[in-house]
Amino acid sequence: MSVTPTLEADVLRRQDPELAEILLGELTRQSTTLQLIAAENFTSPAVLAALGSPLANKYAEGYPGARYHGGCEIVDVAERIAVERAKALFGAEHANVQSHSGSSAVLAAYAALLRPGDTVLAMGLPFGGHLTHGSPANFSGRWFDFVGYGVEAESGLIDHDQVRTLARTHRPKAIVCGSISYPRHMDYAFFREVADETGAYLIADAAHPMGLVAGGAAPSPVPYADIVCATTHKVLRGPRGGMILCGSDLAERVDRAVFPFTQGGAQMHTIAAKAVAFGEAATPGFSAYAHQVVANARVLAQGLADAGLVVTTGGTDTHMVIADPAPLGVDGRTARGRLAAAGMVLDTCALPHGDARGLRLGTAALTTQGMGEAEMARIAVLFAAVLREDREDTAGRRAREEVRELTGRFPPYPE
Ligand SMILES: Cc1ncc(COP(=O)(O)O)c(C=O)c1O
Repeated sequence: MSVTPTLEADVLRRQDPELAEILLGELTRQSTTLQLIAAENFTSPAVLAALGSPLANKYAEGYPGARYHGGCEIVDVAERIAVERAKALFGAEHANVQSHSGSSAVLAAYAALLRPGDTVLAMGLPFGGHLTHGSPANFSGRWFDFVGYGVEAESGLIDHDQVRTLARTHRPKAIVCGSISYPRHMDYAFFREVADETGAYLIADAAHPMGLVAGGAAPSPVPYADIVCATTHKVLRGPRGGMILCGSDLAERVDRAVFPFTQGGAQMHTIAAKAVAFGEAATPGFSAYAHQVVANARVLAQGLADAGLVVTTGGTDTHMVIADPAPLGVDGRTARGRLAAAGMVLDTCALPHGDARGLRLGTAALTTQGMGEAEMARIAVLFAAVLREDREDTAGRRAREEVRELTGRFPPYPE
């Protein structure tokens, strides 16, 4: 099933061509450039169909069987299916699939376990912590007293001694393990041990690796954490949204923390799309996909290292590669601009060493398109050529042509 003809035949084109053009323009942008943003992916046409369905019209405050609105008998079934599929997929006793986003899921986890003013130990933002892990610009930094752990400057790996020392010193009410840019597996057993020793709750913010966990390509935080928060987009390849998993003991607290404490009506079209994505993620095909995502990231990391970039932690266990382009004579921001001009779209991020910004790449979207190790090796070569770019910009132009050829061979939504 193609999304393009659907969109072209769509009433939107006749009613509002201006907006239809924008939607098609974005489809073209996504289809003709390389999406290397580690947090992005291409959802299936089935997920998009659920998102664009009449479930978008339905108000459904509350939970299945206990709604504040009438007419919920059908959407209740959709939510029950999403919950059951999430529980089965991740082996969790309880799942809440209503969080509107990853940040909302983290907010609800804090609301379930903490009171304003409590101390929380999380990865510091300069080392890869998310906004919701104590940024002063976010509710988390305003309402809680965050203490940040870091990574070792040399290895880029989490400084476990520091985590233990900080936990013993500050006695946090909760410890958060999760990151926006940590390319290695988290040692959930270690965090559990420290949480138990210091009397803290353990919250795993597994927004990034959750799709790999679903496909059996990364260890699961579910047996270790009191609450697991995640996004349903990223590697998991569902709609943009959040999800919370926990044991039966915390189920009621978590549900009440989502609704009515931090959210109103559930977005039933998104919940149905989450159910579709969980169904897809339970298939052998998704497991093969998740393992290919990691294999691709490893080849990309090696290719970038061979080209002279500094790959933090020396590689990756996940979909994510963090690289410092400084040895090629460019800083992260300049590199991102040059790569974007050549059709390679990615983010900058903090680096474990120094204040300069590095590059964050991910292989989730390219792998969905069907690209494999050979394409990753080629992309690493193009990448380095663009960063070493001569004055006439011929490398950039050549790379742009090759990106077009590559994306033409691997369309995200084949006709
Ligand atoms: C670790 C982590 N937590 C939370 C989030 C927030 O997700 P959202 O952007 O859906 O609010 C992200 C998103 O990138 C993340 O990486």
